[in-house]
Amino acid sequence: KHCFTKSDDGYLYCETVKVQEIMESVDRRPFYLYSKPQITRNVEAYKDALQGLNSVIGYAIKANNNLKILEHLRHLGCGAVLVSGNELRLALRAGFDPTRCIFNGNGKILEDLIIAAQEDVFINIDSEFDLENIVAAARVVGKRVNVLLRINPDVDPQVHPYVATGNKNSKFGIRNEKLQWFLDAIKEHPNEVKLVGAHCHLGSTITKVDIFRDAAVIMINYIDQIRDQGFEVNYLNIGGGLGIDYYHSDAVLPTPRDLIDTVRELVLSRDLNLIIEPGRSLIANTCCLVNRVTGVKTNGSKNFVVIDGSMAELIRPSLYDAYQHIELVSPATADAEILTFDVVGPVCESADFLGKGRELPTPAKGAGLVVHDAGAYCMSMASTYNLKMRPPEYWVEDDGSVSKIRHGETFEDHIRFFEGL
Ligand code: LLP
Repeated sequence: KHCFTKSDDGYLYCETVKVQEIMESVDRRPFYLYSKPQITRNVEAYKDALQGLNSVIGYAIKANNNLKILEHLRHLGCGAVLVSGNELRLALRAGFDPTRCIFNGNGKILEDLIIAAQEDVFINIDSEFDLENIVAAARVVGKRVNVLLRINPDVDPQVHPYVATGNKNSKFGIRNEKLQWFLDAIKEHPNEVKLVGAHCHLGSTITKVDIFRDAAVIMINYIDQIRDQGFEVNYLNIGGGLGIDYYHSDAVLPTPRDLIDTVRELVLSRDLNLIIEPGRSLIANTCCLVNRVTGVKTNGSKNFVVIDGSMAELIRPSLYDAYQHIELVSPATADAEILTFDVVGPVCESADFLGKGRELPTPAKGAGLVVHDAGAYCMSMASTYNLKMRPPEYWVEDDGSVSKIRHGETFEDHIRFFEGL
């Protein structure tokens, strides 16, 4: 069951609510619209898949950092994956159990590591200097920190180069030739760090589970080597990265169950706890960006639908040439001509497009138009370019009521940065 459906008479629904009606009842556009029940269903799919394994679902906060959503994910039993001091603070604010949180990143700074050490968050070692800083943080707080080694397994995730991380020339993790150096260095600091596991993250939007299996085989081999040296490592963290069906096609993409099933036997064979770090596959399909059509124009051979949303609210198409499905929220009039449009925003950049070459009935001024699968890496990557202030967010609750879950930013918020200067 998916939250967004089109009725036979051409209206888009979010769960049981007409998106057109929500659009008319809120005071500002564009806005993000989520389904809370869909978030629950997505987490349940992972939980079902993980039955029979000791596991932690570490939700990658970078994908979407709405506090209300985080609280809901925590309530459903998720842990969290953090990549900055502020994501760490937010995870604590949302009530996540720190011992189910993992602090990741290739440039973690000492002051943030100190908070992580203080709170007993697991920390991934990414480099020589990172280990040095983790040891320093442990000394500051007088605690032994649970660490995992982020190993770069050199597996090609077959995705856009900007979202590939696990190949050997990437800036993330450590390569195998350095493994022994790290194990020796960790042995030298028994009071500061306790090695509890190994981590890898291959990249994002991965659509073949064999890729995860290849990585897991490599990682299990490392874990065997690490255990041979007397370390009691109990965690395998295979990162996040499972893709979703952005094209709304008939293609059958791997599910959380497919992902977990390909690594299950390996994990059980070594009696490991499995950590996974899903972002996109938990949250992307729970949301769309609801826009209003400002007008339609033609230049040369191109037709444009100009909407109020833009690359400022949703940058993935501009940044990665990503496809996100676009549709109108209400049926077009019978005489509306079906044409091929670029769907663009009002921002002063030719990179400001939400979709290219989309076949749509020519929309009327004011018509509602949604960009789907906007729950991950859309609001969290939004900017205020052209002073398009970040939009409000709403969700449809379990009972079908609609609630605001984040205020939109305003012009006054911008002016506040200059007060008292
Ligand atoms: N763990 C680590 C260490 C990561 O770097 C990431 C994402 C995740 C987990 C979550 O991956 P997911 O399950 O969401 O694929 N902005 C890009 C995606 C960047 C992903 C960065 N790392 C986009 O919009 O496609």
